[in-house]
Amino acid sequence: MIYADFNATTPLGTEAKQGILRATELWGNPSSAHALGRQAAALLAEARASVARAVGATPEEVVFTSGGSEANTLALWGSCLKEEKDFRIISSRIEHSSIRGTLAFLESRGAKIEYVKVLPTGNIDMAHFAQLLAEFKPQLVSIMAVNNETGVVLPTPEIGKLCRTAGTLFHTDAVQGFGKVGSEHWASADFVSVSAHKIHGPKGIGALVVRKGRQLMPTHFGGAQEIKRRGGTENIIGIAGFGGAARELEKTDWTHIRELRDALEDRLRFALEPVTVQGRSETRVPNTSNLRFPGVSSQVILGALDLDGICVSAGSACSSGSITPSHVLLEMGLSPEEARECVRLSFGKSSTAEELEAVGSRLISHVERIRARHREKAAGVTV
Ligand SMILES: Cc1ncc(COP(=O)(O)O)c(C=O)c1O
Repeated sequence: MIYADFNATTPLGTEAKQGILRATELWGNPSSAHALGRQAAALLAEARASVARAVGATPEEVVFTSGGSEANTLALWGSCLKEEKDFRIISSRIEHSSIRGTLAFLESRGAKIEYVKVLPTGNIDMAHFAQLLAEFKPQLVSIMAVNNETGVVLPTPEIGKLCRTAGTLFHTDAVQGFGKVGSEHWASADFVSVSAHKIHGPKGIGALVVRKGRQLMPTHFGGAQEIKRRGGTENIIGIAGFGGAARELEKTDWTHIRELRDALEDRLRFALEPVTVQGRSETRVPNTSNLRFPGVSSQVILGALDLDGICVSAGSACSSGSITPSHVLLEMGLSPEEARECVRLSFGKSSTAEELEAVGSRLISHVERIRARHREKAAGVTV
């Protein structure tokens, strides 16, 4: 089995497993005043400190959630405080479905949303953003740090700077950037979403960084957990795993993966011309490659690679299994047919040169075979 779908999820890392094991033994409720409770609270504090360090925040700024989706919902809905009506937000149309869904919900409750233009390169139009910011005067901006489908790194520092000057709160979904770009990239954001399972931690746990002094209405009510920003007994097992994964992040070196990814793209472009790489002219994270093989359906490639034991994705994981073209690629100007010809490869720190070599060889073989069959069909040859 070759796994090339790390943007969908990652396997548990060693330190995450160790953290989880420790948490199974320290099973007290961190809110309890007795010794067992204090042990669990100490484990929680240790994990919080590790996540905070990795994401570039203080421990008090970290609010644990059930994952990136909840962190996104909490940032957007929570920022409205008690009044969604006429709350103004600027976002983009290439965000994750958890942002898109929350925006649609808030709009149905009277919020006003404006969307910044997306360029064919996969980045956003910063001139349009500056104009929107000045004219629409939003209370909140929510723009992702790294796109999950193309790997394009968005200009978060510039967006943050403009928001600061305008007195607007800035949220960034850093789920795909966490661990791949430095935390200074979102240092100017007021709210930052991250998720454990994209960094070799467990699924079902994430965090929203809420910078000191920023107000937020909770979307989960209960006890005073997470300094009253997210009620409910903490998911200690998940949090301890997240802490372990965050500690291991510090040792990740992506240079090798970037070189392998770039070499694979060059090889495919040379062997299978015409091939396009979505987002290639922009700064991208080192592990992601979104490739289009004209004339070849991504569903057919996915099926063929699956039979070879190679896991890749068409568009984002959340839309795979359905043939709806990716909203990100459509926003970049691809037609629905073109978007259905795109395959996303995403590698991880454990990916090897041999694996990328095998992915390249199998892709070349399948695309050549499928294109040859199309040519024969067009020429009226029966096979
Ligand atoms: C950019 C982005 N944001 C948010 C999420 C959601 O994170 P989670 O799966 O932890 O809810 C994902 C997951 O695919 C993502 O890629």
